[in-house]
Order: sequence, then C-alpha cells, then structure tokens
Amino acid sequence: MSILNEIYTLYNGINIPKLGFGTWQISNTAAYEAVSVALKTGYRHIDTARAYGNEENVGRAVRDSKLKREEVFVTSKLPAEIKGFKEAHASFEKTIRNLGFDYLDLFLIHAPWPWNDKGRDCTEGNIASWKAMEELYREGKIRAIGVSNFSITDINSIIENCEIIPMVNQIALYIGHIQNALTDYCRRQNILVEAYSPLATGGALKREAIREVAKKYNVSPAQVCIRYLLQKELLPLPKSTHANRIAENADVGFIIREDDIEILDSIRQDFRHF
Ligand code: A2P
Repeated sequence: MSILNEIYTLYNGINIPKLGFGTWQISNTAAYEAVSVALKTGYRHIDTARAYGNEENVGRAVRDSKLKREEVFVTSKLPAEIKGFKEAHASFEKTIRNLGFDYLDLFLIHAPWPWNDKGRDCTEGNIASWKAMEELYREGKIRAIGVSNFSITDINSIIENCEIIPMVNQIALYIGHIQNALTDYCRRQNILVEAYSPLATGGALKREAIREVAKKYNVSPAQVCIRYLLQKELLPLPKSTHANRIAENADVGFIIREDDIEILDSIRQDFRHF
C-alpha cells in the first residue's frame, strides 16, 4: 500500500494521512500548481499557514480538484505574531475565508513567540489563543488543534492552564536534528509530532552518509530522509515545486534496516546552519 493511503489517528480519533505536502516557501502564485500536482499524485494532506501567504491558492487548488472536501486533510496556522483570544478568533476567520472552506482539519499556533523575538515569554498570549482554539474546536469549525515550534515548557503551560491537550506539535525535524527529548515527551502526552523541513530544506541531500545509505536501497537521499522519519512514527511534510520530486517523495515503500537506521541516528548535524 502506498504511504499516501496510510494514516495516523490523533488521540481525539481524527485520521491524518501519514505523509503531508509542505507549502512553506511556495509563493501564492506557485502554490496552485504545486498543490494541484500533489493532489493528482495522491497526496491527501496539505500543510499551509497564514504566514506563508499562499492560503488562497492552496484552498483554490483543493476546491478545484475533483476531490470532496472531506477527502483532503488541510492544516493552517495562527501567525506567530498574533496572540490573544479575540485576535486568534479573527485570524481563524481570515484563514477560513482565504481558503474558501467552511471548516479546517487542523489549526496550529505557528510558534510560541514572534519570529523577530524568538524566546520571548508569551505564555499568557498563547493560553488566550489556545482558549479561542478550544472554542472553535468545540464548535466543530476545526477538527483538531495543535501547536508548532513548541518546547516541552511551552506545551506544559498549555496543559496546566487549559482543558484540551494539543493533538499535534509540528517542529523542524530531519536526520541529524531529531530532537529526541521533545519527541519522546510528545509521545508520552499522545501528541503526534509532525516534521517540517524533513530534508533540512534540501541541506540533508548533500550529506555523504545519507547518500551512502540511499545507494544501498537504490533510492534517492530525499526518500531516505522521508522514510527514516516514517519509521520513527513521525509525520513528514516534504515540500517541492517539481512534479517528479513530489512523486518521488511519496514513493517510500522500502524499509530501512535497523543497522542503517543506527547509522542515520548517529549523524549530528544541523544542515540548515551547515
Ligand atoms: P524544489 O521545491 O525546487 O523541488 P524541505 O521539505 O526540507 O523544506 O526541503 C525542501 C527543499 O528540498 C526544496 O528546496 C526542494 O526543492 C528540495 N527538494 C524537495 N524534494 C526533493 C527531492 N526529491 N530531490 C531533491 N530536492 C528536493
């Protein structure tokens, strides 16, 4: 069975396809074609964010496909700079209008702090935003809610002050940057971990040790990066604007042997800062 037909189940019972299509750094203009190709290839899970500036064409591509709305799982995110109860409600309304949908599958707080002030303590703002998201979830406007770029401490403050535990934490994860403490913690809380930049935005593909493993299985380095994350029960969100790569990234039916997983585990490199 193709990975495109496989699912994880969130702790609230919602099914989410195991492989998602990432759209970070895809312009609004390019997003229509890229998402249309991904859907034709068989992807049924698309990840966007208001901050990517492409929600309109992501939504249009989903609406123009022959698929029923409920056949495609769509995620969007509350911008990192927007914190607060009313603000989160208003931003969700904007997102849903941009997408042209009447509900969203998954809505995430994009980051615990604004991007230009990383590390700032926004606990109160995150709690207020989360309460708005809980309300939208209870009203049925969102099928699942979660966070992104949240640390253990950030998640704990939501758990201690709110009613619903996040269903997802989406973080940067790739071979060499696996964040074991955070992923183990999420697993203990039944929070599914999604991996953005699973190819280290392309940086991992040049790494010799990954290329060596790829050769053994007669696959590409990108396929090794994606398969590795799936074998760790993480949810990769690879991004590409090329049809051949979009297909290649979903063609990951092989199994990486445990000794090769150990080789990949031993790589310690933040490629993005290489
Ligand atoms: P492009 O969009 O031109 O295909 P990540 O998913 O980690 O953010 O990585 C995305 C980067 O990796 C993009 O630059 C993308 O380029 C490139 N990429 C995606 N899939 C592949 C692939 N199968 N082979 C080579 N490069 C790829």
